Amino acid sequence: MDLTIRPIVESETVAFRAAIARGFGSDAREEGHDRFYATLPLHRTVGAFDGDEIVGTLGEFDFELTVPGGRGLQMAGTTIVTVRPTHRRRGVLTRMMRLHLDHAGERGDPLAGLWASEAAIYGRFGFGCAADRHDLELDTRRTRLGLPPDDVTVALVDGEAASKVIPPLYEEVRSSRAGMLSRSEAWWEHRRFYDPEHHRGGASERRYAIASRGRDPVGYAMFRQKEKWENFLPDGEIDIIEVMAVDDGARRALWHLLTSIDLFPRIAWWNAPVDDPMIWEASNRRIVKRTTWDSIWVCLLDVVAALEGRHYERDGRLVIGLAHPFCPWAEGTYELTVADGIGTCRAVVADADIQLDAAELGALYLGGRSAIELAKAGLVSGSPDAVLLADRIFRTSVAPWCPEVF
Ligand SMILES: CC(C)(COP(=O)(O)OP(=O)(O)OC[C@H]1O[C@@H](n2cnc3c(N)ncnc32)[C@H](O)[C@@H]1OP(=O)(O)O)[C@@H](O)C(=O)NCCC(=O)NCCS
Repeated sequence: MDLTIRPIVESETVAFRAAIARGFGSDAREEGHDRFYATLPLHRTVGAFDGDEIVGTLGEFDFELTVPGGRGLQMAGTTIVTVRPTHRRRGVLTRMMRLHLDHAGERGDPLAGLWASEAAIYGRFGFGCAADRHDLELDTRRTRLGLPPDDVTVALVDGEAASKVIPPLYEEVRSSRAGMLSRSEAWWEHRRFYDPEHHRGGASERRYAIASRGRDPVGYAMFRQKEKWENFLPDGEIDIIEVMAVDDGARRALWHLLTSIDLFPRIAWWNAPVDDPMIWEASNRRIVKRTTWDSIWVCLLDVVAALEGRHYERDGRLVIGLAHPFCPWAEGTYELTVADGIGTCRAVVADADIQLDAAELGALYLGGRSAIELAKAGLVSGSPDAVLLADRIFRTSVAPWCPEVF
């Protein structure tokens, strides 16, 4: 197949969006054109062209990803991956991925990351699932949460007021958990605060709740309300979009509001952190249903920069033998020495303590996975002591969480 793989140009923007929409089974809306390209400049697109026809699409957002310890590292956010059904399984994605990860590597991005539509697609390119999410549901008719703290008040505000308070609050929270993403001004405007009717799935507009301690905002919740009645009894649902709090008092106050709105006893949050302490505050924890799914997948492109960029909770020295099926420049043997939580990493010629593939290093990187479990599955090899040390070194006490699909 004679294909050209390259970034698109201005005259191709309409066709490119149409190809993406078709790939995901929908139709591009004209009014979304400028918004779409406000967060995805043309030089960060990849189109696969069969003659003049766009048969494959890919894009990369420019993010900082919070890594353990709170630093933000540059991450190419892989997105809008589609291949026309007539051209599938002939290597189109592989060729687009080649250009994308080569560019990201040349630019010096230590990381690439994505959310996968299907879990079997991206391991071959060196991406490993680094964080999970909980799809959470509870019914406030059958369980109650504790009382909110006295020193935090919660107010409902409109979109304009929310747009002033929420971005700085998010920025404050962003360093507290690995897996969170930077949000540019354009991102807030065109993604987080954009709320057209066709995004609502039959629910209300976005509602915004701000928690404050005295005059200081300390947290927020974004949610929608879905009205429903069953046998003339209220059965409405609160759909949580996100809850961010600078401390536990703020978090508890927001949860209290969300679970005490008259007529809306059912609560659903499709992307809750897997360690949300709310479960311990529920009077009947069995009523809180939590289904675990994967969220962000991470690929290390610059292993030294990535391993030195994060913090560690356990000191030690580990020699890592890394196979990278798709980015040969990242393959090698690396010595990671951690002292006082700071990692120093260099490429070495030495026997490795543990051996693993890029996907497994990506999975371990944000601190939410167990090297012991991966070793039991045959995905990490090494002596029991070396695997135990790897487990301790990579794990973190706070679970990673990526609050937003991209
Ligand atoms: C996923 C998609 C982009 C794959 O494109 P493609 O051009 O067919 O992929 P390639 O031909 O480059 O496939 C490379 C390898 O991945 C495998 N693969 C691709 N898609 C796969 C899938 N959905 N499930 C399992 N394996 C898959 C191929 O079998 C091939 O394996 P091989 O090298 O062992 O033969 C395409 O199927 C698609 O557009 N799907 C719908 C939209 C979507 O889900 N996009 C992903 C968004 S995150």
